[in-house]
Amino acid sequence: MSDIVLEIAGVNRIYSDDKENVVEALHDISLSVRRGEFLTFIGSSGCGKTTLLRLIAGLDEPQSGKLLLDGKEICGTDTNRGYVVQQGGLFPWLSVRDNIAYGLKVRGLYQKNKADVVKYIGLIGLDGFEKSYPHQISGGMAQRVAIARALINNPEILLLDEPMGALDSFTRADIQDKLLELKGESGATMILVTHDVDEAIYLSDRIVIMTPRPGRINDVLNVAIPHPRHRGGVEFMAMRRDILEKLNLASAQPQPEYTI
Ligand SMILES: Nc1ncnc2c1ncn2[C@@H]1O[C@H](COP(=O)(O)OP(=O)(O)O)[C@@H](O)[C@H]1O
Ligand SMILES: [Mg+2]
Repeated sequence: MSDIVLEIAGVNRIYSDDKENVVEALHDISLSVRRGEFLTFIGSSGCGKTTLLRLIAGLDEPQSGKLLLDGKEICGTDTNRGYVVQQGGLFPWLSVRDNIAYGLKVRGLYQKNKADVVKYIGLIGLDGFEKSYPHQISGGMAQRVAIARALINNPEILLLDEPMGALDSFTRADIQDKLLELKGESGATMILVTHDVDEAIYLSDRIVIMTPRPGRINDVLNVAIPHPRHRGGVEFMAMRRDILEKLNLASAQPQPEYTI
């Protein structure tokens, strides 16, 4: 099997409305994602991060360019790509257990893989909450359920669109550690979208800095800091400065000229 799990080649995605307003959400995006890596897209709001994840998930198509998963062009959604969004991704009418089991049930794999449901409930630390419904658990717990629900299908790639964006910093740190643990356990390639610089450095093997209007790749950085990473470490802080500087430069707009 090739080292490259996902190839994004010259992808463009333009939105236009009936008033002929045009937004170039993604402009000529090319990137190879390595099998098993933790890759993060970071950038200000509107730089096309969600658009790109939706293309990888198969929920949308580019106007030009290609996305290849294991050498095959992505066409529609499939369980080989799990997708976790910021909030509200769980089925409110299903219990924790049934939310996690959902993917197995719809594919007729539940009887054979029942034990995986128990395993994932344990891995996300929700033993005792199997029968709870989404409205009865905290936001952090719900996000852990959403991650388990995606991973139980053994996806090649787990797509995470700001999954910790709505959580407080303690819960966030807790889920970050859980993600690294689950990555080790599942071997899945993880692609995260965030605008939290520390989160990106803490988790990633590589960080892709994006810039808006049009959405482009500005830089790709390797994070060579060994795990477990310390947010106050010298290398960590140097990297944080570097990324913040790149993000600030990237978002700097030309100042308007005023004549009085
Ligand atoms: N369905 C859509 N129709 C029109 N414009 C859209 C649509 N989705 C996103 N956009 C625009 O495309 C750009 C990129 O959006 P998005 O991918 O959501 O960025 P991000 O996730 O980085 O905040 C933004 O300017 C946004 O307003
Ligand atoms: Mg977004």
